[in-house]
Amino acid sequence: MPLPKAELHLHIEGTLEPELAFELAARNGVTLPYADTEELRTAYEFSDLQSFLDLYYGLMAVLRTEEDFAALADAYLARAAAQGVRHAEIFFDPQAHLARGVRMGTVVEGLGRALDRAETVHGVSTQLIMCFLRDESAGSAMEALEAARPYLAPFGPITGVGLDSAEVGHPPAKFREVYEAAAALGLRRVAHAGEEGPPAYITEALDVLGAERIDHGLRCLEDPEVVARLVRDRVPLTLCPLSNVRLRAVGTLAEHPLPAMLDAGLLCTVNSDDPAYFGGYAEDTFDAVRAALGLSPEQLRELARNSFTAAFLDHDEERRSRYLAEVEAYEFP
Ligand code: ADE
Ligand code: ZN
Repeated sequence: MPLPKAELHLHIEGTLEPELAFELAARNGVTLPYADTEELRTAYEFSDLQSFLDLYYGLMAVLRTEEDFAALADAYLARAAAQGVRHAEIFFDPQAHLARGVRMGTVVEGLGRALDRAETVHGVSTQLIMCFLRDESAGSAMEALEAARPYLAPFGPITGVGLDSAEVGHPPAKFREVYEAAAALGLRRVAHAGEEGPPAYITEALDVLGAERIDHGLRCLEDPEVVARLVRDRVPLTLCPLSNVRLRAVGTLAEHPLPAMLDAGLLCTVNSDDPAYFGGYAEDTFDAVRAALGLSPEQLRELARNSFTAAFLDHDEERRSRYLAEVEAYEFP
């Protein structure tokens, strides 16, 4: 039995496995520029974030109908449950779909269909976080938020906003207004920062956007003052070690600074980002960091505990306590 954990940094479009991509392409009459799944997989050789994003956005062409989005999320939730995920706060990129002529309702109602049955079918509680594409305009982000209004909690599944896509040259402050609007609508706020961008973007995400968690945050280590603040304020970091290796933010998994970050007192969580592209879902990632970094069972338990501590479960503390009790009771094989 895998260690119980929450997944807090997972792009649903990044769970599109080659087999499902080809199945949806056939169903929707979309021609992919790859002969088969094997050829597609050989393209998963990335030099940086942008080289990944080019492929990631391209492959989204196969996602067209509500059924497609439901199938994508169903497949992820089944895998996540098998890997010990008890709670998932799932990102999606609405602007990437709106730009292709796929309506917000198609995306959210499709994902929502899978999320609605996730607890009964898979035993996984879920939330949905819409991410703004930081390499698009602030106006486009605001339009996406407007289009999402019928689907915001408590009436729909969207509980928060995030910020992703190409980081360098797109500082958080560009999105001040849309984050203010999101806060006024009662949404939770997270943001990718310090993945490829400088530590100053982390500070800006906290100060200007009111981010409650930082996605990645790896480059905080370059500025001791940023580290001190993250420690002091117990700001969770949703680290994605396999992603960092595949997108070359770190050289090898054995060189990942996760142990040093834990030692520094940072509230670290370990997540899978885009598992179909980076070679591992939640438990695969825990296994990989344990093997490469020699983490002890107690350090793994700390990471699992942190994932539930950092989850947006403030409205359901009883559930959080239940999950935390499962972590404490877990016996390592
Ligand atoms: N979109 C999907 N995965 C991402 C990542 N790792 N960083 C930024 N944007 C993303
Ligand atoms: Zn990400």
